[in-house]
Amino acid sequence: MNQTITSSISIGSSCGPAAESLELSINGRRTTVRADPAMTLAEVLRDGLSLTGTKIGCERGACSACTVWLDGEVAASCMTLVFDARGRSITTIEGLARGELLHPVQHAFVEHDAMQCGFCTPGMVMTCAALVDRHPQCTEEEVRAAISGHLCRCGTYTNIFKAVLAAGQQQHGGTDGGCRGEEGPTRHSSHGILLSDAKLRWYCGTWDWLSGWPPSDGD
Ligand code: FES
Ligand code: FES
Repeated sequence: MNQTITSSISIGSSCGPAAESLELSINGRRTTVRADPAMTLAEVLRDGLSLTGTKIGCERGACSACTVWLDGEVAASCMTLVFDARGRSITTIEGLARGELLHPVQHAFVEHDAMQCGFCTPGMVMTCAALVDRHPQCTEEEVRAAISGHLCRCGTYTNIFKAVLAAGQQQHGGTDGGCRGEEGPTRHSSHGILLSDAKLRWYCGTWDWLSGWPPSDGD
């Protein structure tokens, strides 16, 4: 997480306040952007930096699809002005796995089929990962409370509860972040099917939801 890559992009509308330069720390990388001060962090992540794992649903703080971490705390990126993210450590769903080694919550979502369309999944995973990292012995009631602000139109809540509790047990078992540190299982479904790169990106939340529905194992 110490890598520093500086890139400069310019985003924002042609009207309104002039774009200004700011530096962001995203997934351990420093990035310089020029952005309209009225832009939200979600807009900059998606439109400016192509970090489309973060989804935008309601754009008003009601669905939590856009959840990221700011200094390790969950935050709605649609309700965060990008300038307010200066000087903070931003973690998106793209920064949760270590390469192909999934966070235990990501792995558990795969194992328990805790998604259907996947649109809510990146936000769900960010919140659940924060919970499990801090409180691996969480109860179902605590999982319910943690994701109470998340809307899943597909109604996958039951499997999400199972997945988070399983990830917590794995964390509490003393392994290094559950599936992290293992090679191989991260690329297999619960039925032992080798996951394609496309499907792995889907489970990691890095699949561009608008460009495919959903990816097949042959993709
Ligand atoms: S898109 Fe941010 S809370 Fe719904
Ligand atoms: S899996 Fe479709 S919205 Fe949650």
